[in-house]
Amino acid sequence: MKQTNQPTLIEDTPDIHGYSEDNITNTIIHGNTLNVLGKMKENSVDMVFVDPPYFLQLPPKKLKRWNARTTVEAVDDEWDNFASFADYDDFIQELMTKVQRVMKPSATVWLISTYHSLFRIGKIMQDCGFWILNDVIWVKTNPMPNWLGVRFTNATENLIWAAKDRNHEKYTFNKDYAKSFGIGKVGANVWVLPICTGKERLKDVEGNKLHSTQKPIELLKRVILTSTNENDLILDPVAGTGTTGFVAKALNRRYCMIEFNERYVKGMMKRFEENPIIEKEPKVSEEKTIEYFREKNHKLY
Ligand SMILES: C[S@@+](CC[C@H](N)C(=O)[O-])C[C@H]1O[C@@H](n2cnc3c(N)ncnc32)[C@H](O)[C@@H]1O
Repeated sequence: MKQTNQPTLIEDTPDIHGYSEDNITNTIIHGNTLNVLGKMKENSVDMVFVDPPYFLQLPPKKLKRWNARTTVEAVDDEWDNFASFADYDDFIQELMTKVQRVMKPSATVWLISTYHSLFRIGKIMQDCGFWILNDVIWVKTNPMPNWLGVRFTNATENLIWAAKDRNHEKYTFNKDYAKSFGIGKVGANVWVLPICTGKERLKDVEGNKLHSTQKPIELLKRVILTSTNENDLILDPVAGTGTTGFVAKALNRRYCMIEFNERYVKGMMKRFEENPIIEKEPKVSEEKTIEYFREKNHKLY
């Protein structure tokens, strides 16, 4: 059994035919996730976090802000491009089928998305047989404004939380922890927290964002502490900057991060050199939450 929780970098190549649980423990695997997942052992991971391409379908031009010289920093990365909805659906279907195969019967999966693809992904997941436990609405306290003023500001992302299938075994739900940050006395499925900014945001050598969609540590902390126990094996098959593994490592969980973009893999390796202390206590500001919902003096009830 691997003792260290520092990552091993694995280059996935055609001559690697299989990965045991020990092989993938505390690793960053550089390769196409559809190939790598196919080589992993069935029923081997305890939790999966999936933050897939959104397929934002932005027009092939820079988005200019009206009355301003600046351009909108949009997600226009190559990895987010698909030829059609059909191609996108095929990718999600293959990804989620392969994810399901490697989940233990007691494992759960979290999938995060926006309105651009959430509804198609939900259908695909249900058709694959996943058993949906919750959707969690992440309300962003600092969303990207709607510059053109032609629709509401999109201030939410949704997480789908699901068990492997209808006949799943008992999964982990640390309910007291969950109640400590869900809204209201019942700990409802609404999480209010900011997007990743400031020092937490990884930069490249030119000082630009390393990744357009890096997720906040606080979000992953809530996911991990709610649905796993120490030493569980957590998989992120589309890891980006590896936020999932970075938080898992700090919270004494095992992790396997898969990513095909070399720049992000390098960024992840560097990020993982750090050994941050992540307080288990959720960062919740009752005041900020109430203030947020009371903006413009609207009363909640
Ligand atoms: C939405 S981002 C994930 C961001 C991540 N949660 C974070 O906090 O940085 C999706 C990532 O999936 C990667 N990706 C997309 N298709 C992939 C594939 N077939 N194999 C491996 N990685 C893939 C992209 O390069 C991108 O970094």
